[in-house]
Amino acid sequence: MSMTQERANAAAYGAERPLLELRQISRRFGSSPDLAARIAIALGAAKPAPVVHALDRVDLSIRRGEVLGLVGESGCGKSTLGRIAAGILQPSEGTVLWEGEDRNGFRGRRLRDADLKAQMIFQNPMAALNPRMNVETLVAEAPKIHGLIKGPVGEYVDDYLRKAGFDPTMKRRLPHQFSGGQRARVNIARALAVQPDFLVCDESVAALDVSIQAQILNLFMDLREQLDLTYLFVSHDLGVVEHISDRVAIMYLGRVIEEAPVEEVFARPNHPYTQQLLAEVPRIRPGKRRFAAMKGELPSPLNPPKGCHFHPRCPFAFERCRTEAPATREIAPGHRSACHLNDQSAA
Ligand SMILES: Nc1ncnc2c1ncn2[C@@H]1O[C@H](COP(=O)(O)OP(=O)(O)OP(=O)(O)O)[C@@H](O)[C@H]1O
Ligand code: SF4
Ligand SMILES: [Mg+2]
Repeated sequence: MSMTQERANAAAYGAERPLLELRQISRRFGSSPDLAARIAIALGAAKPAPVVHALDRVDLSIRRGEVLGLVGESGCGKSTLGRIAAGILQPSEGTVLWEGEDRNGFRGRRLRDADLKAQMIFQNPMAALNPRMNVETLVAEAPKIHGLIKGPVGEYVDDYLRKAGFDPTMKRRLPHQFSGGQRARVNIARALAVQPDFLVCDESVAALDVSIQAQILNLFMDLREQLDLTYLFVSHDLGVVEHISDRVAIMYLGRVIEEAPVEEVFARPNHPYTQQLLAEVPRIRPGKRRFAAMKGELPSPLNPPKGCHFHPRCPFAFERCRTEAPATREIAPGHRSACHLNDQSAA
């Protein structure tokens, strides 16, 4: 067992405080009306702008050294949660604790260090890379600004390019001269060059060919060992998440509805939504039964259903589900789920 895995396992038993903890995080989008707009709304001459409830009181923690997979349908709030975890978006409400301390209280050097220690890797490396800068300049840019390069810049850049599996002899070329896979590596080198502890990967392999995806996923896992990294790994692809994660959190319309170690989620999904989601994953294993595709549309986060957000699509919904949001309960060690059925079976 590797050092990183040993530590992740120790952490799983509560021996270590989380690297990052999100407490009761909500995030809304939508412009707050200015005075003129408020008067117009009060007079009935205008309607309030719609508000998107992207996140609704999310609790989630990530232990040092672990890979937490984050899954859910499009628009459920994964990227919003990822951006808040990476510190590039502020929550509307709630607290973000970095190494046990409220990130809101950070100033000066502590703020800068915390900002650098959490980096985000996006899906589209071309959009993230300035097309006029060559690879060396791109990788050197942030560590130079923050005074992280002690020796020769060229050597520093080469080191991080090599770590990302990119041939440093090509560093004078521009991003568009490379394939998608190579650009993904430049993007990774750029994130690594500020010496982060925590990477938020948001669909970062989704745009790549399947064979290249596998290479980049392997790279992420090698880097985790080499550099002691912690990951929040956002993906639509349950196969990828199963392969890469230690723990998985499942989101539905702005809420984390289930969270457990990866084997536990796939072997014993508790929440009806997770059960349906997993039933839709094509399995190669013979004899594995597949269930009907998920019924119904994903409701809009502009107007989420009352009670349990999943009730319009849930085959087990009963009266209470329509009015009362289910509390999240620990149903097995490290396995949390938010469904009223867990109360009934406990009763
Ligand atoms: N800057 C923004 N302004 C307004 N609405 C936003 C903004 N960012 C996200 N949203 C809305 O918040 C909700 C959650 O979006 P988010 O991007 O977090 O979802 P997601 O799970 O990452 O989706 P996808 O799988 O498609 O990437 C969506 O309804 C989205 O339209
Ligand atoms: S709380 Fe009710 S509607 Fe929600 S998942 Fe559980 S049974 Fe279904
Ligand atoms: Mg997204």
